[in-house]
Amino acid sequence: MSQVEEIFQVRVKSITYEAEGVLSFDLRPVAPRRELPAFTAGAHIDLHLSNGLIRSYSLFNPQEESDRYRVAVNLDANSRGGSRFMHGSVHAGDILSIGAPRNNFSLDEEAKSSVLIAGGIGITPLYAMVRRLDELGKKWTLYYSTRSRKNTAFIEEIETLSASSQHGNVVFHFDQESSGGFLNFPDIVATAPSGTHFYCCGPLPMLEAFESATSDLHDDCVHVEYFATKESADTSGGFTVELARSGASYYVPAGKTVLDVLIEEGHQPLYSCQEGICGTCEVTVLEGEPDHRDLVLSAKQQKENRSMMICCSGCRGERLVLDL
Ligand code: FES
Repeated sequence: MSQVEEIFQVRVKSITYEAEGVLSFDLRPVAPRRELPAFTAGAHIDLHLSNGLIRSYSLFNPQEESDRYRVAVNLDANSRGGSRFMHGSVHAGDILSIGAPRNNFSLDEEAKSSVLIAGGIGITPLYAMVRRLDELGKKWTLYYSTRSRKNTAFIEEIETLSASSQHGNVVFHFDQESSGGFLNFPDIVATAPSGTHFYCCGPLPMLEAFESATSDLHDDCVHVEYFATKESADTSGGFTVELARSGASYYVPAGKTVLDVLIEEGHQPLYSCQEGICGTCEVTVLEGEPDHRDLVLSAKQQKENRSMMICCSGCRGERLVLDL
């Protein structure tokens, strides 16, 4: 929220084929740094790519590992450049610039029982979470849905974890083997013990089905991470944004976001996804009422108006004062 981000370098130690279309990257500290900033299961890092793009990827390795970060990237047919670059232009031995881990998708380690639902590459944060839950001796069930076995990243590791675990199990769902049918979300929710925490990360239709099935549960028990936006940015404009620290003030016209205007005016605000899903551009709001369009803040946090994502959220009034 403070818009202060440590950016540092890591070396790509190795790149591994994980499934059709999915590569994983093992990132190590560059001397003199020997350890990397700590993270917790569910966290992601921003990769600042040499083609100018910034992309967020979830960490899937155990949080106890301080000497490496592991991310997995699915080659997206509709790539806007990030996954294509990672698959085609990054090689073992390369140096990458990254931001310190952030976690918008934290695990509740106190929950007695957790159900985690992954769709495709959405497995990455959930894989770290189930390993953490297993280590803590908490009850967990992972539902992992993909098109087919060959598209299923970490399938062998996850099968091994499931077979050896005293606390959890995995239910695989391969669309091509079930006539394209989806997981039965209402059934999953109805059969879970009371007090279960539910997590979901996957494509939009899956997240919408999940949110619908969990709509009667308490907000604190439902955890969602989007990797694509649900609605477009608010570019209705027509308000002024004031930067409290410098005293600068700019008009945000129709067709632009606050982020667009700040970049045009020569500022260097932090941002990554530009879709309201990663949390990188979060800024403290000192005055004014944002029109929130992000998928990072909870409904309660959005009502409190203490911060906003400047890449996608607008203003309900004529003026916003930001802690920038
Ligand atoms: S840049 Fe990702 S939420 Fe704004």
